[in-house]
Amino acid sequence: MNEEVRIAMLGFGNVGRALAKLLQLKEYELANQYGISCKVVGIATKRHGIALDQGGLDLEWAINILDENKNLSDLSTHPSPLNSSNLIDQSNAHVLFESTPVDYETGQPAVGYLQQGLDLGMDVITANKGPVVHAYHELSSLAKSKGRKFYFESAVMDGTPIFSMWRETLPGAVLNSFRGVLNSTTNLILTLMEQNTSFAEALSHAQSIGIAEADPSGDIDGWDAAVKVAALVTVLMGEPLNPAEIDRRGIGKISAQMVSESRRGGKRWKLICEAERKNDHLHAAVYPKEIDSSDPLYNVMGTSSSITFKSDVLGALSIIEENPGIETTAYGMLADFINAVRSRRPS
Ligand SMILES: NC(=O)c1ccc[n+]([C@@H]2O[C@H](COP(=O)([O-])OP(=O)(O)OC[C@H]3O[C@@H](n4cnc5c(N)ncnc54)[C@H](OP(=O)(O)O)[C@@H]3O)[C@@H](O)[C@H]2O)c1
Repeated sequence: MNEEVRIAMLGFGNVGRALAKLLQLKEYELANQYGISCKVVGIATKRHGIALDQGGLDLEWAINILDENKNLSDLSTHPSPLNSSNLIDQSNAHVLFESTPVDYETGQPAVGYLQQGLDLGMDVITANKGPVVHAYHELSSLAKSKGRKFYFESAVMDGTPIFSMWRETLPGAVLNSFRGVLNSTTNLILTLMEQNTSFAEALSHAQSIGIAEADPSGDIDGWDAAVKVAALVTVLMGEPLNPAEIDRRGIGKISAQMVSESRRGGKRWKLICEAERKNDHLHAAVYPKEIDSSDPLYNVMGTSSSITFKSDVLGALSIIEENPGIETTAYGMLADFINAVRSRRPS
């Protein structure tokens, strides 16, 4: 007999809908490998309504409604909750998925939603970097005190196992530094500019495939990259770091001419993300740099990302994520979900 897991979803944009599709696609594996039967009972958006059905929502239908830019509340079998917080209260869910837009400066309102979910005994899973940098310690302690999970694999490098790799497979290792390319939108823009696409066209393409932030200035100005650096430092290096403290420059000043001159010299521009702890001093930065083919980041193209970790025990450990899409982000959330549900069971 499978375990029925009730799910509430906050945010049904690019990530939320990709996750809904993946939950349907993976129904067989969830049931047969993990004994999980999912029931999405609530979905909240900002401008496209809120749906609540304790019997389980028809995900296909919900996706169609959003694709047609219509309102989800028609799916509700109850009076629709007034807002996301009401939905969390009324959903009676076991697991809360959060994929609302990032707020770089405070992490709200996502932080409050995740707190509320944990207070009600839910496992909470987010793709949003905001709560990781602004409330990692509070949310982790609350989750621990409730015997629940606060997981956020998709917040950095989409579905690539970064946080779970450190959590589960590198016990006792101390992270001293990391360096990488972590923002897909800017890397795609720089790649397309090498092929003579204009900055504006390249950005518009990134938006059309759903990888650019709702406000693309967050990507272009290096904020998204800085928040990811802050999340990695906070979680993996154990030092709470506010993104505003990071020395940050974006790609806004990289012109078509600079890109073509660089190519003529056998080099290319990359938005570098790095952090290093040395003698109790932490250096963290995001900046565009012209690199040559001897740099391991030279061949990281398009939406791909890469990171090299240096720890006290393993030396350099590199991970490359090739051309992820929105499905990859959804997979990070699904992996968190399976891990959270499994951890509830007696071993
Ligand atoms: N896209 C990616 O490749 C990617 C990768 C990794 C992580 N992420 C993170 O995932 C999150 C979502 O990204 P996305 O691309 O899916 O964004 P998106 O397409 O803009 O979708 C955001 C969704 O959140 C809803 N929303 C906004 N405020 C809300 C609130 N207060 N309560 C409930 N729903 C609310 C929006 O509703 P309306 O549509 O009605 O406005 C929309 O459904 C962001 O934090 C982003 O940083 C994205």
